Amino acid sequence: MSQNQAVKTTEVLLLGPGPSNSFPGVLQAMSEPALSHLDSDFLKIMDEVKENLQYLFRTISPHTYIVSGPGSLGMETCFVNLIEHGDKIITCQNGFFGDRMHENAKRYGAEIVQVKADWGKPIALKDVEEAFVAHPDTKLLSVVSAETSTGVKNDVEGIAKIAKRHGALVIVDAVTALGAIPLEVDKWGLDAVYSCSQKGVGCVAGMAPVTFSESAFEKVINRNTPVPSWFQDVTVYDKYWETAAKRPYHHTAPSQQYYGILAALRHIKSVGIENLWQQHEEVSAYFADEMEKRGWNFFVEKTYRLPQLNTMLLPEGFDDVQGRTKLRGEYQIEVGAGLGAMAGKLWRIGIMGANVNKATIDKFLQAIDKL
Ligand SMILES: Cc1ncc(COP(=O)(O)O)c(C=O)c1O
Repeated sequence: MSQNQAVKTTEVLLLGPGPSNSFPGVLQAMSEPALSHLDSDFLKIMDEVKENLQYLFRTISPHTYIVSGPGSLGMETCFVNLIEHGDKIITCQNGFFGDRMHENAKRYGAEIVQVKADWGKPIALKDVEEAFVAHPDTKLLSVVSAETSTGVKNDVEGIAKIAKRHGALVIVDAVTALGAIPLEVDKWGLDAVYSCSQKGVGCVAGMAPVTFSESAFEKVINRNTPVPSWFQDVTVYDKYWETAAKRPYHHTAPSQQYYGILAALRHIKSVGIENLWQQHEEVSAYFADEMEKRGWNFFVEKTYRLPQLNTMLLPEGFDDVQGRTKLRGEYQIEVGAGLGAMAGKLWRIGIMGANVNKATIDKFLQAIDKL
């Protein structure tokens, strides 16, 4: 390959847990020329991104923006700002990403109360209530909305209601939830919510949408100790996202990525967020019917199953690695393997971003039928 030659990759149908294929117009938007991070045109783009994120998160909070980094940086941003050494937090854990939230809380010096459920089951509301009753001095609670490791939907609305009643702030992982299933930041009283750009948002990886409530923001302002990370200090970040007229330098934002997410967010707004949630339900129901006809069963019960992340148990005698290798090698389709104890036992099939349509499912089914 000569030095000037463009990088070429194969177009893969991304039906794993993420990334997903991006919405139309995203890649094209990303090939526009770079703008400097304080260019007046770029500041307008940031303003529109913010407005669209508020629409997507269903919030009017001004503390809503993109942290330049993956979903994991969004997670770190919430924990690093909201936890001061010794703060008590209830961490809800029923999968790999709930455990990662717990790990964050531990590293920032929280006193932790764990509420657990088995992989494949949702967090029980009564366990959350009992934890608050046993620990009335709890200041925070963390929970994953869409647990990507298992395909389970946690009842974030119900959990948040309990946390609010006990005066705790609620941190929510919406990495696999945003854009795919209902998430009502203001209505449900969520205080710090983070996501990613490469799944339901329909863009490429590398940007973490986050939103903080006024109560969360006040907790940060009233900390006894400075936020241990300068880059992620939400009070500093907040100024960077103030109205274009006042904006100071914070960091060199990756302008092309912002063009991409703006194109994706405009697409979402044009479809309508409620329609998008509905599309996920309908396409997933079609997928479920077709897979069950073919002898595949779900790992998770229907009542708390995610439409956007389907965990399918491998049929008796089906070879996991051989199946995935053939799908990728012969049909350019990616699906996700099982994690942890579920490795070799199930596939994680994501239906997000540009892939939420029956034609994509049909393409997948045709390939499955030839395995
Ligand atoms: C629920 C959940 N939380 C956090 C993450 C981490 O996101 P990222 O890989 O963008 O850092 C993921 C990644 O898939 C996830 O599914």
